Amino acid sequence: MTFNPHDAAVPTAPGRMPVLGHVPQLLRRPLPFMQSLRTVGDLAWIYLGPKPVLCVNTPDLLHRMLVTDGRKYDQGKYFDKIRETFGNGLPVSNGEFHQRQRRLIQPAFHRERIAEYVETMAASADAMAASWRPGQEVPLKQEALTLMLSMVAKTLFAADVSDRVQAEVRRSWTTVLKGLAWRSMAPTDALEKLPTPGNRRYERATGRMRAAVIGAVAEQRDSGKQDGSLLSMLLAARDAETGEGMSEEQVAAEIFLILFAGTETAGFMMVWLFYQLSRNPEIAARLYDEVDGVLAGRSPRIEDLGRLTYTRQLLTECLRLYHPGWMFMRRANTEVELGGHLFPRGTETLFSLYALHRDPRSFPDPLRFDPERWAPGAPQPMEGAYIPFLSGKRQCIGDGYAWAQMTATVAAIASRWRLTPVSDRPPRELPQALMCPDEARMVVTAR
Ligand code: HEM
Repeated sequence: MTFNPHDAAVPTAPGRMPVLGHVPQLLRRPLPFMQSLRTVGDLAWIYLGPKPVLCVNTPDLLHRMLVTDGRKYDQGKYFDKIRETFGNGLPVSNGEFHQRQRRLIQPAFHRERIAEYVETMAASADAMAASWRPGQEVPLKQEALTLMLSMVAKTLFAADVSDRVQAEVRRSWTTVLKGLAWRSMAPTDALEKLPTPGNRRYERATGRMRAAVIGAVAEQRDSGKQDGSLLSMLLAARDAETGEGMSEEQVAAEIFLILFAGTETAGFMMVWLFYQLSRNPEIAARLYDEVDGVLAGRSPRIEDLGRLTYTRQLLTECLRLYHPGWMFMRRANTEVELGGHLFPRGTETLFSLYALHRDPRSFPDPLRFDPERWAPGAPQPMEGAYIPFLSGKRQCIGDGYAWAQMTATVAAIASRWRLTPVSDRPPRELPQALMCPDEARMVVTAR
């Protein structure tokens, strides 16, 4: 029997078009559309072309899907596209293989390792902040992305390889991300096979990035060096239960996706944070006091991360209001129950952390930037309402790493500079593979 989504008594979002479904709305006004779905129902169907996708719109249903029944769901359509391009790395792999890989990779993100990386991160952030001149106009997004990429590349690779890989990634980055976003939304896979200039650019860019990373992996293996880089750890890693290691191809897939996962998200937060500081002088003054008081002009160390509490409040609020994950997908690998309805194996589901974090039922006055929501003793939202690093078996493996990256960067900039946007308008929210701000040009003034 064919499954008919309407049997499940879950409403369909308005505006479905023949053949295209809701794709035109997703392309035209993606962020308002994603946020409108909570008013359709706790669960709602949308159609990507002819394909029904179940949108999960409340914290408790998301908790059920991601945590309680986490094993019943695999990564969905969007992740298939990434896997086709970059291989079966951690964010896209499923089942036992995913669990095994996670066990192998986890030690590289332990607290002791991050404590070692903090020094490299702080040195990179200091070098960027020290290179700016009073009165200079800096493209903050580009600077922040270059910085985050250099932090990840320097901790992933040995120093000599890092620069080469960074150069190639920087060159191909935008083309690859745009191509991925389009491929996950396209109503049919046939479009990506056409010899269009866009498809050709995508193939060339992904090919170049693959070659750079695979080359770096081979070089590291041939050198046999244990240089403390994440790459050398991955090559040496052995599963505690099976004693097995990873193939080179698998190591390359992991590296690709860690490069992706570890660069954009943290970079975007810097744009939103410094934009908000420029609009809220009292908040900025409190941050400067904290940075000056805790660090007194030196670079942060791991133990400072816990002391920079107001910095953390600010970042926590940025990750609420501007979460880059505007669209994530899952696929049921068995029959599942959700919200009192049964859905068959293969059901595609979708959720938006961007929309979840702006839900007025969880956050009063949700569009207001208010770090006091996270002050010690403030009432906390219900479980599952704020999950910037997700929850359950797919929780971000790099959360501790990300806090260190972001804190080191905020500290390096805020201890020297005050940033003033060149334009009066807020950065635009661009829903690409992740929701990113457009470029924010800032004039830097010595504090
Ligand atoms: C502010 C920064 C970051 C945010 C908001 C963030 C958020 C997330 C989220 C929401 C997921 C789950 C995606 C899904 O399964 O649908 C995820 C997974 C992941 N993240 Fe992060 N992330 C950040 C930084 C990082 C960094 C710095 C790294 C590594 C250096 C990293 C590596 C990963 C990896 C490897 C996964 C896949 C984990 C798995 O499926 O087992 N992330 N992240």
